[in-house]
Amino acid sequence: MNVNFSKTAVIGAGAMGRGIAQMAAQAGSEVFLMDSLPGAAERGIASLSEQWDKLHAKGKLDAQARDALVARVRAVTSMEELVGCDLVVEAIIEDLEAKRQLFRTLESVVAPATVLATNTSSLSVTAIAKALAHPERCAGFHFFNPVPLMKVVEVIAGFKTSAEVCGRLAGFAEQMGHKAVRAQDTPGFIVNHAGRGYGTEALRIAGEGVADFATIDRILKDQAGFRLGPFELLDLTGLDVSHPVMESIYHQYYEEPRFRPSVITAQRLAAGALGRKTGEGFYRYPDGTQQAAEEPPAPKPEVLPGVWISPRAARRAELIKLVHDLGAQIETGATPSTTALILVAPLGFDVTTVAAVERLDATRTVGIDMMIDDAATRRRVLATNPATRVDIRDAAHALFARDGKAVSVIRDSGGFVTQRVVAAIVNIAADMCQQEVCSPADLETAVTRGLGYPQGPLAMGNLYGPTNMLEVLFNLQTVYGDPRYRPSPWLRRRGALGLSLMHEEEA
Ligand SMILES: NC(=O)c1ccc[n+]([C@@H]2O[C@H](COP(=O)([O-])OP(=O)(O)OC[C@H]3O[C@@H](n4cnc5c(N)ncnc54)[C@H](O)[C@@H]3O)[C@@H](O)[C@H]2O)c1
Repeated sequence: MNVNFSKTAVIGAGAMGRGIAQMAAQAGSEVFLMDSLPGAAERGIASLSEQWDKLHAKGKLDAQARDALVARVRAVTSMEELVGCDLVVEAIIEDLEAKRQLFRTLESVVAPATVLATNTSSLSVTAIAKALAHPERCAGFHFFNPVPLMKVVEVIAGFKTSAEVCGRLAGFAEQMGHKAVRAQDTPGFIVNHAGRGYGTEALRIAGEGVADFATIDRILKDQAGFRLGPFELLDLTGLDVSHPVMESIYHQYYEEPRFRPSVITAQRLAAGALGRKTGEGFYRYPDGTQQAAEEPPAPKPEVLPGVWISPRAARRAELIKLVHDLGAQIETGATPSTTALILVAPLGFDVTTVAAVERLDATRTVGIDMMIDDAATRRRVLATNPATRVDIRDAAHALFARDGKAVSVIRDSGGFVTQRVVAAIVNIAADMCQQEVCSPADLETAVTRGLGYPQGPLAMGNLYGPTNMLEVLFNLQTVYGDPRYRPSPWLRRRGALGLSLMHEEEA
C-alpha cells in the first residue's frame, strides 16, 4: 500500500502521542517518537511493543507483522533526526506558546513540503500556524483517547491551511483505519462543541432541584438510550478536565448562553470531588465501583381515582390507551370530576403552566412525558407541580408502575428531563450546521464515534421529530425566558418546513 506519509514524527510521547505513533506505524509509516522529558520516548516505544505483543498473543497480528511494526518505530532525541520526515504531529502540552515555539523550530529543520499537524483539543489551529513562515502546511489532526479504539479524527483547516494538506491528512487517517471528518477551525471543533448540550442541560435540571443526579442519569439512559448518564460521564472524565472545557468553550463563543456552565461543577471542582479518580463525584466509589441509592418502590394506594386526560396532551390517543390498559377508569367529561387525577402531557411547557393555562385544579394535576412512544421507552417520567397533593402524586406513580415498568417522579420542569436534554443537543448540532462548522454527515459520524451517543444528534432530532424539537424549544423559552433555548435557524426552518435535519440546501 502507498502510505500518504512514509516518515512520520510524533512529538510528545504521552497518552496521545503514543496512540498516534501506533496508528501511524500500523498505517505503514516509519515513525520517529520524540519527547522533551528524557526517557519518555523510549518508554513510549516500549509501550508500543507491549501493545503489539498483546495483539500478537490474541492472534490479531502475526509474528512477522509484529516484528515489522517494532522495526518501524524508534525514539529520537534531537530535531535534526526529523529532517527527512514528511509529516510531524505534535501532541505536547496544551499550551499555545509551547506549540508555536515547537513549530517555529521544526520549520527551520524539516523540508518546506513537510506537513505540520497539531493534536490540540482547544487551541486555535490558525493561532498555532501563525508562528510559521508557511502556515498553509499546518492543520489540526485531532484524535481521541484512547487513539486505537476511538476511530475518528477531526481534520481541521486553519485560516491559511491548504486543501491539499487536509486531503492528505484525511487520507492518512483512513489508512490508519480511522474515519476522517472535516471541521472548521472553531472552538471545540466538532466533538467537543457538539458535546456541550448533554452535561450542561442536565446540570441545569439538577440545579433547579427537579431530580437528583442518579434519577436524571436513569431517565436519560432508559428513555433516550444513552449508554452513560451525564453525571456518570462527568465522573468518568473528571471535573478537573470537564469543568475547564465547559468554561473555555463558553468564553470562546463570547458567553453563548447555550454553553453556560454550572456553579454545581465549579463548587465540586473546588472541593476536589472530581469523580472516579478521587473516589467521590456525583456518585461514591468506595471500592472503585459506583454506589447509587436504590430507587424507591412504587407506592400502593388502596384506591385509584378516575383519570381525566387533557385534550391538549401529546400523543393523547396513546396515553388514553395506556391508562386504559393499566386498568384505570377514564373520565370522558369536558372537565374533570372533583376527585379525578388530572393528567397533562406537555412538550416543553412545565406542568404549572399547563394547569394555569387550561384552568385545571393544580392540586390534582400531574404531567407525563409522552414525547417518546411508551413502547419505545424503558421508563415513564411523571412530574408534579408545586401544588400537587401527595396522595395524587402517589396515585399517579402507582398507576404507571402497575405493569412493572420503571417510573421516575420528578419536580416540575419545562420539558421534563429527556425533552430538555435532547432538544439542547439537537439545537447545538443544528446551529453547528448553520455555522458550517462541518457537514451534517461529518457531524453525525464524529458524534457517534467520538461521544458514543445512540444516534447522531441530527438523527436524534429526526427520530423525535424536528417539529417537536422546535415546539419543545419555543416552550422552554417561554417557561424560562432564557435565550439558551432559542432555536437555531437551521432547526427553525427545517422544523417549520417539515424537512429532515440532515437536509442541505442545493448549491
Ligand atoms: N488526553 C486526551 O484525552 C486528549 C485528547 C485529544 C487531544 N489531546 C491533546 O493532545 C496533546 C497531548 O495530550 P496528552 O494527554 O497526550 O498529554 P500527556 O501529558 O500525556 O503527554 C504530553 C507529553 O508531551 C511532552 N512534552 C511537553 N512539552 C514538550 C515539548 N515542548 N517538546 C516535546 N515534548 C513535550 C511531555 O513530556 C509528555 O510526555 C494536548 O495538546 C492535548 O490537548 C488530548
